[in-house]
Amino acid sequence: MEIKEDKDSRWFNVNYVPQEYIFSHEDRPQNLDIPVCDSFPVIDLGIPFQPIEAILKASQEFGFFQVINHGVPKKTMIDAMNVLKEFFNMPYKEAIGYVPHAKGWIYTNTDHTKDGVYLWRENLKHLCHPLDKCIQLWPDKPTRYQEVIATYIVEIQKLSLRILEMIGEGLGLEAGYFNNISEVQLLSSNFYPPCPDPSLTLGILAHQDPSFITLVYQGNSTGLQVLKDGQWINVGAISDAFVVNIGNQMEIISNGKLRSVDHRVVTSMHKTRSSIATFVNPSLDCVVEPAKVLVNEAEPSSYKAIQYKEYVRRNNAFGDYTSALQNVTILES
Ligand code: OGA
Ligand code: NI
Repeated sequence: MEIKEDKDSRWFNVNYVPQEYIFSHEDRPQNLDIPVCDSFPVIDLGIPFQPIEAILKASQEFGFFQVINHGVPKKTMIDAMNVLKEFFNMPYKEAIGYVPHAKGWIYTNTDHTKDGVYLWRENLKHLCHPLDKCIQLWPDKPTRYQEVIATYIVEIQKLSLRILEMIGEGLGLEAGYFNNISEVQLLSSNFYPPCPDPSLTLGILAHQDPSFITLVYQGNSTGLQVLKDGQWINVGAISDAFVVNIGNQMEIISNGKLRSVDHRVVTSMHKTRSSIATFVNPSLDCVVEPAKVLVNEAEPSSYKAIQYKEYVRRNNAFGDYTSALQNVTILES
């Protein structure tokens, strides 16, 4: 099939939602008229004593928080966002030209979910660990891609270890608990274009993350929603912040004290959303189980120990990406 390359022919330049993007009634966003949640936890990492209590409280009550004054240079964040926007702006044929391939990354603009319904997004995923080996497997267009994203990942590594250390301290784990078992393993970047009828579509279906924690940079965009006490709440846009959420593996380590919660992305009629999610995961060989100090007679372990590699395989945790994750094993061996 001949693919036209002019902008007007891109899949989202339509004035109705094509059938394959329409979700079942139960999956649709229902109420789109939700105000931004003004009690959503925003944590200032720039204050002299570390806000461990606030992080713990947010992780228990919301499973989510935003961090500001986090130390990642603004330029690093903007450069990363811009280079990803450029990637998604490349002519379709050029971007899709990269797949299928046996390397460590996947691009798609026909991302289908459990029922075969397409998400209203384009997505690029690739491995980030070990960084020096992975860089060579990343897109080389735009030409600055590898350099800019590597700089971003190094910053995310530093910030994520700081956050993990604070969570560890808050939980009463030994210092450095996460140092040798956590990796910024995966980058997943999304481009969610405007949609003619947001009541029918979703950018990402409700899900939980299979990570320790996930850091999302969303620039100035909205659309991310979190399930809190049975209601969807909107995460506001704070342009310099990272949105941080507790993943399944952290819930396990904490023996259920911290919560991995459902979240999703709704679409907008007029606004574009761009996001960069980085998954801070257990290393593939790590056996994940509730931390010993959190298990006792009164609070027995609520989760079975499982090697992370096996967890990913059993739960098909990253969808099509599971096979690409296996490339990490090849890289590491
Ligand atoms: C994810 C995710 C949110 C976003 O990739 O798991 O929840 O803002 N992303 O794109
Ligand atoms: Ni997620």
